[in-house]
Amino acid sequence: MQYPASKLPSVGLTIFSQMSALAVKHKAINLSQGFPDFDGPEALLKAVDKYISSGANQYAPMAGLPLLRQEIAAKIKRCYGREVDSECEVTVTSGATEAIFAAISAVVGVEDEVIVFDPAYDSYEPAITLNGAKTVHIPLLPPSFSIDWQRVIDAITPKTRMIIFNTPHNPTGTVMSEDDLKILETIVEGTDIVLLSDEVYEHIVFDGLSHQSFNRYPALAERSFIVSSFGKTYHVTGWKVGYCIAPTPLMAEFQKVHQYLTFSTATPLQAAIAEFMQSETLHDSELAGFYQQKRDFMNQHLKGSRFSIDPSAGTYFQLLDYREISDLPDQAFVVWLLENAGVATIPLSPFYADDQQTGFVRLCFAKGKSTLLQAGERLCAI
Ligand SMILES: Cc1ncc(COP(=O)(O)O)c(C=O)c1O
Repeated sequence: MQYPASKLPSVGLTIFSQMSALAVKHKAINLSQGFPDFDGPEALLKAVDKYISSGANQYAPMAGLPLLRQEIAAKIKRCYGREVDSECEVTVTSGATEAIFAAISAVVGVEDEVIVFDPAYDSYEPAITLNGAKTVHIPLLPPSFSIDWQRVIDAITPKTRMIIFNTPHNPTGTVMSEDDLKILETIVEGTDIVLLSDEVYEHIVFDGLSHQSFNRYPALAERSFIVSSFGKTYHVTGWKVGYCIAPTPLMAEFQKVHQYLTFSTATPLQAAIAEFMQSETLHDSELAGFYQQKRDFMNQHLKGSRFSIDPSAGTYFQLLDYREISDLPDQAFVVWLLENAGVATIPLSPFYADDQQTGFVRLCFAKGKSTLLQAGERLCAI
């Protein structure tokens, strides 16, 4: 038989799988993949046990458990001052990844254009491609990795259906400023461009900065899918529970996709998260301090290294500038680093459409102190 041609011919094994496999082979410390090596809050874990053993094991409502949607709406009000209707503007999803796919599929069609900023989280482009649309890449360049708004203005055409933002940004650890959002407001005013704001690291913003959620800006919120992930907030990435906020007309289309993509998300996990959110409001607000300590601990221990470091402004990622150490391309440098220092990191070039060489690699500091200490010692030794 002639098998169908690939719909995603340029997608291969992700760099995360490649680096993790190499890390195992070389018994290296794995700071490449973005997940914590510690568990979520005990009360949350216990609540899941309780709901599983008390029968919360059948399909949840398509849009999510009402109590969880109400808690999400309350959180948005508390954190960003926006009133959202939990009945028709909130959907619980199977991770932010599902929300991103559903949002793109809901509004992006054949021959549309979608603007993304490179380096970009790797699920955006395949979702755009599978919907028959074209990805228009705008690079974020070192050292600031900030958005060049003139390039955005120049990239917009009558075919631009959507622009995807991610703040705090993976992999660079940058955050968008109030000025950025105000400029965006003026750029999209009077257009029919839909925005997708990936805010999975919304509670991990450092040094007193505040997260510029699109929820804070009514003129943006009225045209935005805003996506977040409980995996990042509660250290439970493997649960794959996230959510999407959007105005009713956009959410109605989103739910048409969601109901045939996954229909609903694991019931006991939703029930446990809702209960935890009801009883515990400090976790979110303490998360930035928790990760800032880890960032500072890691960076303190890298002070004696030959890497140059500009502290990350958000997320649990830190970029290391290795240009003083090597002029290897980043994909070769991470392999060299792994073999010589025993630490796995992630190159940035796979997240640029044109394999841009920045001279930076990314590490994840969502790890216990002893791991960070050991990694710091190894990185200082090269
Ligand atoms: C920027 C960004 N968006 C989305 C996701 C996916 O989140 P989830 O695990 O909830 O699907 C991640 C996970 O690493 C991410 O870094």
